[in-house]
Amino acid sequence: MPFDRAYPVRDGFVDAHPGRSGRLPARGAAGWVNDLAPTAWAYEPLWRHRSLSILTMGAATTAHELRTLRAWLAATLGPVEAGAPEPLAGRRVLDVGCSSGLYARTLVADGAEAFALDASAAFLRVGRRRAERAGLAATWVRGDAHALPFVDDAFDAAVVGATLNEFGDPARAVRELARVVRPAGLVWTMFASRAGGPGRAVQVLLERGGLRFPAPEAVDDWAAAAGLAPLRRANHGPVAFALYRKGAGAPPLAVSSPSPGWEAGPASADASGAAAHSSAT
Ligand SMILES: C[S@@+](CC[C@H](N)C(=O)[O-])C[C@H]1O[C@@H](n2cnc3c(N)ncnc32)[C@H](O)[C@@H]1O
Repeated sequence: MPFDRAYPVRDGFVDAHPGRSGRLPARGAAGWVNDLAPTAWAYEPLWRHRSLSILTMGAATTAHELRTLRAWLAATLGPVEAGAPEPLAGRRVLDVGCSSGLYARTLVADGAEAFALDASAAFLRVGRRRAERAGLAATWVRGDAHALPFVDDAFDAAVVGATLNEFGDPARAVRELARVVRPAGLVWTMFASRAGGPGRAVQVLLERGGLRFPAPEAVDDWAAAAGLAPLRRANHGPVAFALYRKGAGAPPLAVSSPSPGWEAGPASADASGAAAHSSAT
């Protein structure tokens, strides 16, 4: 198992939350809201499946996001055994800030072994029930992204959908993602980036509740400092999809000299262009 020690299992999830020791960044008002059972129940059907299309004014949808996630991971990782029918068969992935497990379910359906971690027990309960109803098994973990309860190099990939906006110390959380991913493993993130114009005024209000809206370049800097090199990016208005690869012996790439696979293209190019990438194994 990838855990760094034995943790109790409660209510269907591994409880590895380090508690409010003061050594972890506070979660703010957003964290409090996320602990409520009605939020956990309503988040995915009422907001998650609409949010991308609202935030990007139709330039991207959640279906397109999931297609891009699957295509980018499959093209760069592929299954453990070549020729396996499922694109991520045998790969171990970590969904950080999983909420009710949209990414975890998606990747399990593609053959991956998924660990789904969230700070909110309410979200984990809903996530586990939804996965079970869909016939998809994952390991549900209550923990904090700033101090992941896993050994180094434990996962082929870590995925973070929108949670980057909620981390109290995103640079530290990115270091943790890089730590638990194996060399040449992947980190995917989708996040709402710093908007211009009236959108920025709304973001300033949301920042009072503990959310953050980093420029893509800031995320690149956190990634580079953690030893993650940029592989692919797609910007859709104020929403970015980004894929990074851990070290693999090469120095992290500077944002000003992107790798050949780097792209910030239109929505239609994201998933189709993925096959051009070579395997990271
Ligand atoms: C915007 S939702 C993410 C949605 C989910 N990744 C998805 O793609 O549908 C943010 C989630 O991250 C969790 N979260 C926020 N800060 C966290 C932290 N420091 N550690 C673990 N989970 C955290 C919240 O409890 C919440 O469920």
